[in-house]
Amino acid sequence: TAKTFKLNTGASIPAIGLGTWQSQPGEVGKAVEAALKAGYRHIDTAFAYGNEKEVGEGIRASGVPREEIFLTTKLNNPDHKRVAEAIDQSLKNLGTSYVDLYLMHWPSSTDPNDSKKHYPDWDFVDTWRELQKLVGTDKVRAIGVSNFAIKNLERLLNDPSSKVVPAVNQIELHPGNPSPKLVAYNTSKGIHSSGYSPLGSTDSPLSNNATLEKIAKAKGKPPAQVLLLWGIQKGWSVLPKSVTPSRIDANFDLDGWSLTDEEISKIDAIPDRFKVCGDSWLPIKVFFGDDE
Ligand code: A2P
Repeated sequence: TAKTFKLNTGASIPAIGLGTWQSQPGEVGKAVEAALKAGYRHIDTAFAYGNEKEVGEGIRASGVPREEIFLTTKLNNPDHKRVAEAIDQSLKNLGTSYVDLYLMHWPSSTDPNDSKKHYPDWDFVDTWRELQKLVGTDKVRAIGVSNFAIKNLERLLNDPSSKVVPAVNQIELHPGNPSPKLVAYNTSKGIHSSGYSPLGSTDSPLSNNATLEKIAKAKGKPPAQVLLLWGIQKGWSVLPKSVTPSRIDANFDLDGWSLTDEEISKIDAIPDRFKVCGDSWLPIKVFFGDDE
């Protein structure tokens, strides 16, 4: 679908973006190329994925003009004290002069010499102050955050040095981790929610969910499409990852039908909770139960 959402900058973000976390070298470039040829105009990557260079190659191989594409990348945790260098490195990797969205990947300023250590003298509010300096340059069209819980967003928004409201908070969103309070909080502050792992990621517990299967069957659509439309109809953009051309096509093919309010409520009521991405690998806690 070519559907878009509006950001607080006035720019539009396409409702479907290709996710590239865990897409392997040697296949991610082809996936990006296939997605753009299938009609996607939104690609999500990160320095930490180690694939920016190949993502850039895929964009160029597609022949789709750069300015037609909404491209997101993210600041790596060990780079919080060197934002200016980090964006330049990402732009160089991607082979582009700007990104549409630059996100603070995690609210965790990690010591580059010891990934188990959080900088004692550097907070994500300091990082945000540095990111704000990029606004108005020709390197980024918007800045935002990722993996921010309400508690951390409040701290960021209430700090006197914060002049820019994040355009986006990219968070894990699927029926196993629906985070309704966090999504409502984002919306109340004018922050667009973007959902990663919308299918529940690799070996998803949602892949054989009876409620989803029933709705998918009634609609005559694959369960993956039901999951993506559920997110879009609830108001967030979705970032399905695939390196399989037929799935890349299917995940974009969402026009001409919709879920009823009753079907959405049934999906909302799926009780099983799970998270794809925890915070135990980080030096600090960033999730506080229900992400809230
Ligand atoms: P693959 O990349 O091998 O095609 P998420 O977007 O939640 O992170 O989920 C990504 C996982 O879901 C990957 O393992 C991906 O496999 C798989 N996947 C992506 N699209 C579909 C689809 N339409 N149907 C089934 N599985 C899919």
